[in-house]
Amino acid sequence: MRREWWHDKVAYQIYPKSFRDTNGDGIGDLPGIIEKLDYLKDLGVDIVWISPIFCSPMVDNGYDISDYYDIDPMFGTMEDMDQLIEEGKKRGISILLDLVVNHCSSEHEFFKKAMEDPDGPYGQYFYIRDGKDGLPPNNWRSYFGPSAWTKIPGYENKFYLHSYAAEQPDLNWENPEVREKIYEMVCWWMEKGLGGFRIDAIMDIKKDLTWQDLPVDGPDGMGAIYKINQKVKGIDAFLLELRRRCFTPYDGFGIGEALKINEETLKKSIGDGGYFSSIFAFEPCHVYRKGDDFTTYDFPIDFHEWREKTFQNHELIGDIGFEANLIGNHDQPRGASLFIPKKDYGFNSVSALATIIFCQRGLPFIYQGEEIGMTNREGWKKEEYADSATLGKFEYFEQWGYDIEKIEKVIATHSRDNGRTPMQWDDSEHGGFTIGKPWLVVNENYKEINVAAQEREYGSILNFYKRLIAFRKSEEYKEILTYGSISQIYGQYDYIFAYRRALGNQCLDLICNFCGEEQVVELQEEYDNVIFVNQEQTTMIGNRIVLKPYEVVVFEKLNTV
Ligand code: GLC
Ligand code: CA
Repeated sequence: MRREWWHDKVAYQIYPKSFRDTNGDGIGDLPGIIEKLDYLKDLGVDIVWISPIFCSPMVDNGYDISDYYDIDPMFGTMEDMDQLIEEGKKRGISILLDLVVNHCSSEHEFFKKAMEDPDGPYGQYFYIRDGKDGLPPNNWRSYFGPSAWTKIPGYENKFYLHSYAAEQPDLNWENPEVREKIYEMVCWWMEKGLGGFRIDAIMDIKKDLTWQDLPVDGPDGMGAIYKINQKVKGIDAFLLELRRRCFTPYDGFGIGEALKINEETLKKSIGDGGYFSSIFAFEPCHVYRKGDDFTTYDFPIDFHEWREKTFQNHELIGDIGFEANLIGNHDQPRGASLFIPKKDYGFNSVSALATIIFCQRGLPFIYQGEEIGMTNREGWKKEEYADSATLGKFEYFEQWGYDIEKIEKVIATHSRDNGRTPMQWDDSEHGGFTIGKPWLVVNENYKEINVAAQEREYGSILNFYKRLIAFRKSEEYKEILTYGSISQIYGQYDYIFAYRRALGNQCLDLICNFCGEEQVVELQEEYDNVIFVNQEQTTMIGNRIVLKPYEVVVFEKLNTV
């Protein structure tokens, strides 16, 4: 495996609308990110991924872009962006933007022109098909619920394709002119000095051009559109071209949002010369998704399935490359709520979870607020949700005749708005996020959970994160934590999450008791040192270790060969 500049870095995702508002309009902005760069630096972050800040009607909070070459005024100006890149550089922080090119906004000029003349050249920028006597061309269901086809105004039987909301028309990657426009735009941004991009919904760019129906998987007679991804061939050419044209020339970091891919695609995605630098390790953190239907989602996750998927995934990856390990993102519930039973939430469990993630092989990605243990919000009222996917779910489950109480419950725990409530900076009104009215309600627990309080307290989750990142990056352990192999150990114990990192003749064994009860583990090794813990006073009796609830210990063994 070739060594790359980003291999030993720690990354942090910012959801800009909810990070920090500096002008009182209730919406986070670029000056707010600039203001907090020192905070990120202090935490130990090297790479910052910012969810979309381009011009957008905000149907999907910026994942619907109407102008890729400009900043949405709600976030600031291009000068702010330039300054952010500049200020980042001064602190050794690379900025990643979000590349949303499976689709654009229905307000993008390409789409407007296509709608004026669907048979003209811009019609070729999208997927426009004739319907079946006024009904959609096939039974594909969009990610957000309704049909993936919407009728073109003024036409009886012409439809355009959108994998997501109707306001997010899919771009036609088969058209070389479209690809050229995309590459030009990406390079234009890279020239500005970005570190790279997170690449949105990228496995959706190849369509099944036979336009066949999918097997029906819901009461609506439709099939989930993502299922075409596993079927169609030929995405390779697009992805390799994207990398060669836009990333290779700049030594840029490109991390793909690639869900449910098979083993072969995984290898082609992150190996040397692969499509991407890295992709997110979604397999382990999506174990709560029991079926396609949202109402089948677990909460919290099943520990054993999480553990099993984690190691299965590492086995698949081997040493071909790195995935990015995550606890949450803007599409997930809060990790501290999803992974930890509510009765067990606290410093010990949150710090144990972070340690399990950070010491694995792969790139650690922090989602804003995780470093202070932010949780799901409780007591959501229907009218408080802002996310179009959440609202879409209410709608179509109602249409399907589902039990509304059950729906409300599952939506409350799984709505993406949980991860999007504003960052909790201090205990002043609205958590110090804004002096205005926040665009999305602030989690009421900001009085207890906030940055300022945790900065003051040595034993806080925030200060633990700083120690954890410093450990990950320490001269002594950086090499093994980055490049060492990973394999599961002590798998015979319930609720023990344990693994070995090994490199040359050095090895580190992480052992974590991930439950609310004490557990005794018989150690199979004699260790030389305890090098990292989340709680004081680890108890050893001979070769037995008594692990307190959510205690994690990292042992070191020298000269293993
Ligand atoms: C990705 C984004 C998500 C967005 C979707 C459509 O999954 O992470 O937030 O809604 O793509 O762009
Ligand atoms: Ca603002």
